[in-house]
Amino acid sequence: MSARIARISGSVVTCDHAELFAMGERAAVGHVGLVGEVIRLTAEYCYIQVYEDTTNLQAGEPVAPTQTPLMVELGPGLLTTIYDGIQRPLDVLREQSGAFILRGAEAKALSRDRQWLFEPLQEVGADLSGGALLGQVQETSAIVHKILVPPLVCGHLLKIANKGEYRLHEPIALVRKDNGQEQELYLYHHWPVRQKRPVNKRLTPDIPLITGQRIIDTLFPLAKGGTAAMPGGFGTGKTVTQHNLAKWCDADVIVYIGCGERGNEMTGVLSDFPKLADPRTGHPLIERTVMIANTSNMPVSAREASIYTGITIAEYFRDQGLDVALMADSTSRWAEALREISGRLEEMPAEEGFPAYLPTRTAEFYERAGKVQTLAGDSGSVTSIGAISPPGGDFSEPVTLHTQRFVRAYWVLDKALANARFFPAIHPLESYSEYGAELVSWWMQMSTHWQRDREELFNLLMEADELKGIVRIMGEDGLSDHQRRVLLAERVTKEGFLRQSAFNANDRYASPKKQAYLLQVIMQQVRALLGDTGTIEDARERFQLDGLIRLKDEIASDDADGILKWQDAP
Ligand SMILES: Nc1ncnc2c1ncn2[C@@H]1O[C@H](COP(=O)(O)OP(=O)(O)O)[C@@H](O)[C@H]1O
Ligand SMILES: [Mg+2]
Repeated sequence: MSARIARISGSVVTCDHAELFAMGERAAVGHVGLVGEVIRLTAEYCYIQVYEDTTNLQAGEPVAPTQTPLMVELGPGLLTTIYDGIQRPLDVLREQSGAFILRGAEAKALSRDRQWLFEPLQEVGADLSGGALLGQVQETSAIVHKILVPPLVCGHLLKIANKGEYRLHEPIALVRKDNGQEQELYLYHHWPVRQKRPVNKRLTPDIPLITGQRIIDTLFPLAKGGTAAMPGGFGTGKTVTQHNLAKWCDADVIVYIGCGERGNEMTGVLSDFPKLADPRTGHPLIERTVMIANTSNMPVSAREASIYTGITIAEYFRDQGLDVALMADSTSRWAEALREISGRLEEMPAEEGFPAYLPTRTAEFYERAGKVQTLAGDSGSVTSIGAISPPGGDFSEPVTLHTQRFVRAYWVLDKALANARFFPAIHPLESYSEYGAELVSWWMQMSTHWQRDREELFNLLMEADELKGIVRIMGEDGLSDHQRRVLLAERVTKEGFLRQSAFNANDRYASPKKQAYLLQVIMQQVRALLGDTGTIEDARERFQLDGLIRLKDEIASDDADGILKWQDAP
């Protein structure tokens, strides 16, 4: 008795003999054994989401259950690799099948040929529980990969390998579990992508993820283990910002999910990323990066899976006590994949055709971010940053609205700012971060002025915004001298502090000290300007405002003291 395909609708395949399958089970579909996942069961039929091109499938072909859920392989070899949505390495796929992806291609996520120098860090006789440290492997020059007991295994260590070179399928340890059974452990293990990995407990995210982007770090900061979303129309800088964060943020490991944006854009990412140098180590950035690429020519369902593949890999590095930053560009393409699959299941659509479970799925994704105490007792974090591309730049659409409910930092990319080539085009009044209060004490160690400067900057931005409303109605003539000074001061803070070019060597990254000192000097000058009683016409010159605006470009990121010196100069 075997199941046969009854119907094919895009990436959703229906087969009979539903009783052979379980929800979430991985299935092998058709003669070539395409990778699929059971997403719905009725008494009669089993609905399978297929992660590969279904064009040549035919009704009547067999479908086989596999008794396992959709899983990822976790172990040395993840870093530097570029995967598709279900963790098949793109270069292996390409080798096997030329430029086109072979259907049913069996490409192991982690190489079985490569040898890793394993260094044991436990002795025989130890009683180990899930997440305990077994040993380590220097995976790349940037990262020491800790080999941990898989989360759900615990037992008495009977054997552990000597220091030496091992391949992934060669056992490195043997444990006797509580039930008396013996189990071999390897350098890698499997984990179901839709299941979050266990931790000891969740911790409050109270350390900033430094991005080097002033408007983010100073005004709308993100904490390590936090969540952020970045909605923005076409061309507002989502991808450039995601790249900037990947390049500069002070996470140990980067997981970058390129999710079905225009094909040529993804090609750019694929060719650029491996060439980038890590500003911190000088080595290639890819040595601490895992990339997941869904170009728009890959099946829509693989896009849906890619988010889970990515977050599971991120959790795995977190479990080693590392800080991981995950970027997804863009989550709108993921939501569109959900919508398309839901449509093929003929589910009742909710807003704009998206399934009613869009908010639940979105929440589940962002909830997997966090700062935690790992099973081994270390602290680790996953910070998730999702770009959103609302159709037509309309922020009232479902993906934007639902995401906003589940993230704590929200960076609105503004079309008008981008059109004026003001970058980063993050709107200073519509964006927000709920991490500010938790991070004050960290920043106060950089500069004792920080909190006051930041508050005054916010107030200035708001006051100037109101004045601009008046100017629109009454014109500039109705303004008092003080009000003109407010507008001038606001321009200085925007040009001198918030504006930051990704292409200026001194300015593309600003160290926390440079940010805090620059803010301090600018706000001091702004206070003097606002308290001034002289004529406004020559204020620019008297307060050296042009020099102040150029400071960020002229002083290197690591020369924060140079900024304070400017102030003392005559
Ligand atoms: N931080 C930045 N500094 C300088 N230029 C930027 C910055 N962000 C965006 N840009 C400019 O805007 C263009 C579009 O940005 P992009 O990230 O591709 O937009 P999106 O992904 O939102 O469609 C870039 O090619 C670049 O010229
Ligand atoms: Mg983009």
